[in-house]
Amino acid sequence: MNPQRKIMTLGEFTIQELRNFPAATGELSGLLRDIGLAAKRVNVEVSQAGLVDILGDAGRINVQGEDVKKLDIFSNQQFISVLQGGINCAGVGSEENEDILVFDDPLSNQSKYVLLMDPLDGSGNIDVNVSIGTIFSVHRRVTPRGTPCTKDDFLQPGNCVVAAGYIIYGSSTILVYATRRGVNGFTLDPSIGEFCLSHPNLKCPPDGNIFSVNLGNMEKYDEPVKEYVRYCMHRDPGSGRPYTHRYIGSMVADIHRNLIKGGIFIYPGTSDRPSGKLRLLYECNPMAFIVEVAGGKALTAAGQRVLDVQPTAIHQRTPMYIGSRHMMEKLEDFLTNA
Ligand code: AHG
Ligand code: MN
Ligand code: MN
Ligand code: MN
Repeated sequence: MNPQRKIMTLGEFTIQELRNFPAATGELSGLLRDIGLAAKRVNVEVSQAGLVDILGDAGRINVQGEDVKKLDIFSNQQFISVLQGGINCAGVGSEENEDILVFDDPLSNQSKYVLLMDPLDGSGNIDVNVSIGTIFSVHRRVTPRGTPCTKDDFLQPGNCVVAAGYIIYGSSTILVYATRRGVNGFTLDPSIGEFCLSHPNLKCPPDGNIFSVNLGNMEKYDEPVKEYVRYCMHRDPGSGRPYTHRYIGSMVADIHRNLIKGGIFIYPGTSDRPSGKLRLLYECNPMAFIVEVAGGKALTAAGQRVLDVQPTAIHQRTPMYIGSRHMMEKLEDFLTNA
């Protein structure tokens, strides 16, 4: 590492944030550092995929009816063990666990926060060296400190999220997190094993020219969605169309790219799955929170913010439309005039 280079690690950044907020207790900072530690452990394993026995199916089906991969389980275990071993989290809700995990020990019960996560997003891409990630959101408990957390702590709408973020294990490993104060990205510097501030105060460009959708499902979309997709592909040089189509199949990486470059990602309901595929609590809410703080928009239907949906079940699904503000407004015209 160049000794002249000025760096700020994730740990230093969270401490600086604390200085700006003397009333803060440091618990959220501690939780974010715990998440950074778990992410580094997962990163080590991901970067050795193919050499260590981490590729392939685990041989079981999860509560979503999906084939579970070994790395889904490994990542789930790493995050849970770090959070359970720490003192900043009272319990976890995860894609890979049917029910919430209540840590229920004297220190954890004193914690102010619970965490929801998709430990490994983009499972289908693990075995083929394509970017994958982890997604999380943090809620302040509604139940009193000193007691075990309950489902009520997790079934809160996205507009109650305190912090949300993701890690992408890609060409480099990046951790992005948002609080209401802003969105910041930290790239893992392998030479010192630290996440270092690389993308301060991220903003989503209001316009863009990328659209991301599974075009293979086109026949299964409602007519307004089909019309919007045709609009994206229509040649109109004055407006920059046709837009470029990009779809990685790891939502976290698709949205990260669009957040930086400007673009729109949609996972609509389909004729066989009217609520779509993505899960509200640990996939859609965290990404919606981050993109909104960055100046973009996230809707579940015309005029309906993802963050306003009152959840009723941990694994519930929702259609999601998310991205650059002006692109989202155009999409809303199509959805509204249906
Ligand atoms: P997960 O790997 O956590 O189950 O999530 C997979 C999701 C998401 O990452 C991605 O955008 C989407 O599945 C892809 O679905 P399709 O193959 O239906 O497009
Ligand atoms: Mn899955
Ligand atoms: Mn996922
Ligand atoms: Mn997953």
